[in-house]
Amino acid sequence: MLVSAKEMLTKAKAGKYAVGQFNINNLEWTKAILQTAQELNSPVILGVSEGAGKYMCGYTTIVGMVNGMINELGITVPVALHLDHGSYEGAMKCIEAGFSSVMFDGSHYPIEENLAKTKELVEICNSKGLSLEAEVGAIGGEEDGVVGSGEVADPEECKMIADLGVTMLAAGIGNIHGKYPANWAGLSFETLDGIQQLTGDMPLVLHGGTGIPADMIKKAISLGVSKINVNTECQLAFAEATRKYIEAGKDLEGKGFDPRKLLADGTAAIKATVKEKMELFGSVDKA
Ligand code: 13P
Repeated sequence: MLVSAKEMLTKAKAGKYAVGQFNINNLEWTKAILQTAQELNSPVILGVSEGAGKYMCGYTTIVGMVNGMINELGITVPVALHLDHGSYEGAMKCIEAGFSSVMFDGSHYPIEENLAKTKELVEICNSKGLSLEAEVGAIGGEEDGVVGSGEVADPEECKMIADLGVTMLAAGIGNIHGKYPANWAGLSFETLDGIQQLTGDMPLVLHGGTGIPADMIKKAISLGVSKINVNTECQLAFAEATRKYIEAGKDLEGKGFDPRKLLADGTAAIKATVKEKMELFGSVDKA
């Protein structure tokens, strides 16, 4: 059964570790992440961007697939199915389709509008027992064609959004989606500390988990980050393993063209990436 992310993140914040959000793209992705979480006895959040939602034939298809897998694979660790960087309309659609968690990303609106829309969604999510993530200060890089400029959030604005009663809060602290450029300045721990001082127990979310060095991840967790999003790193690992399979000519041997074989190495690479992240984030055996 899908669960809200509230309990797993409250525990993570108190226990000084983070739960990984891994974005899904298809059946192989979902299976690899769920199996790894179960093997490591870790809570997990499956992230779905609006673009990936369309690709996978809509939110109800995804809810059906994920619920089916939890059942058929005997997954007993806590799993939240979460909309990533949702619009207001997208969040409403996911709530209707049976997601257990949504993100409303109002960071591109003026703060008053972000506050007003987030407030409405807090009420709706609370009434249905769902978790809600809000965002302040756009996160840099490209996500579904939307390019942000790597802002640093204003801690006072973070407090205003946190006080609305959201479950978790994403704040720009110099993080970027996708690969980090060679001249990246790193995370702004000063900003993160300022935000945590004003938001208290609120679990903070670190987007753009791909390519952040381990020591920065650990420091971010020590300063209140309880959820870390990873997407690109699984895609890179999948692509590399799949490329190697084809370059080695394995698809031409026997029935190596069978998609179940063709995608097996890539799927194993996603599992290895997810395992590495869960170990780094400290969520192993925290189910
Ligand atoms: P990366 O693709 O950089 O790992 O970021 C994922 C993310 O933050 C999804 O919201």
